[in-house]
Amino acid sequence: MALPPLETRPCGGRYGDIVQAIGNTPLVELKRLSPKPGVRIWAKMESANPTGSVKDRVARAMIEDAEEKGLIGPGQTILEPTSGNTGISLAMICSRKGYDLEVVMPDNVTPERTQLLEMYGARITYSPGAQGSNGAVTQALAMAEADPRYYMPYQYGNEANPGAHYHGTAKEILEELDGHVDAFVAGLGTGGTLMGIGRRFKEELGDHVKIVAAEPMQGEPVQGLRSLEDGFIPPIIDLSVLDRKIVVTSRDAIIWTRKLLKEEGIFAGVSSGAIARVAVRIAGEMDEGNVVFIVCDDGWKYLSSGVYTKPVDEIADLESTVWW
Ligand SMILES: Cc1ncc(COP(=O)(O)O)c(C=O)c1O
Repeated sequence: MALPPLETRPCGGRYGDIVQAIGNTPLVELKRLSPKPGVRIWAKMESANPTGSVKDRVARAMIEDAEEKGLIGPGQTILEPTSGNTGISLAMICSRKGYDLEVVMPDNVTPERTQLLEMYGARITYSPGAQGSNGAVTQALAMAEADPRYYMPYQYGNEANPGAHYHGTAKEILEELDGHVDAFVAGLGTGGTLMGIGRRFKEELGDHVKIVAAEPMQGEPVQGLRSLEDGFIPPIIDLSVLDRKIVVTSRDAIIWTRKLLKEEGIFAGVSSGAIARVAVRIAGEMDEGNVVFIVCDDGWKYLSSGVYTKPVDEIADLESTVWW
């Protein structure tokens, strides 16, 4: 019996192992959040990746790039400073591919993260929580310098990071919307998502497509996002790719994370709330067209912080580390 043609590429499929199953995430329209009938808002559900975040794409790309260049071999120890999703993705991929993984992360991250890393077999070295992710980066760089057994992918400076989005996420979105993208919104962590997708969209669609970064208000941390005003600009970032940066308060990020769940059924991490807030604002400035934003990760790892349950003012003020 002939089956009806598929409207889009299936997000299911058949794969040889879990690493191959990364990517091809769903693109979901959020009709209730759209402020105008002619403007369509689409969420690229990176939370649907095997470990629940966009970083599965990046971790795979960095490890496979190092393999192709002969930089790593069997029994190698991979070292990465990460307080969050990249570590969890690397841990899963290293466990599948037979590499040891050591992560350096601040000692104040949520227990879910430590547990997940340990479950996938990673070793954890702690850096002082008060120094945030920058402290973890400094400590890991020093460890890699001192010991040649370590290979450090270093997502902040590794072109395979934006490359994963240029060759993967961007290509998928272009196919899914038949090239009709008018604005793209993502958060800025390492900058990999915005650089990779931004470059590809500008190359294929020209200046018509607007690339917008959601940035936390300085001094108001949003887990997963970085304010460029903090002083560290990762080497992979080329600011000329961005058309705009829009600042989001941590209060708004939490309110919109809850709105995503309540109005659209999307269970996401708190940076996705910040990004959704910016996507809706951009949509409000347009008369028609497609706005795409990234749902970076799912909400499971944030439950213990009370993002979904505590009074907003109680958690909006929380001192939090940057997680990506
Ligand atoms: C949880 C999380 N992971 C990853 C990212 C994307 O960061 P990057 O700039 O490193 O691609 C973000 C940014 O929005 C994030 O919030």
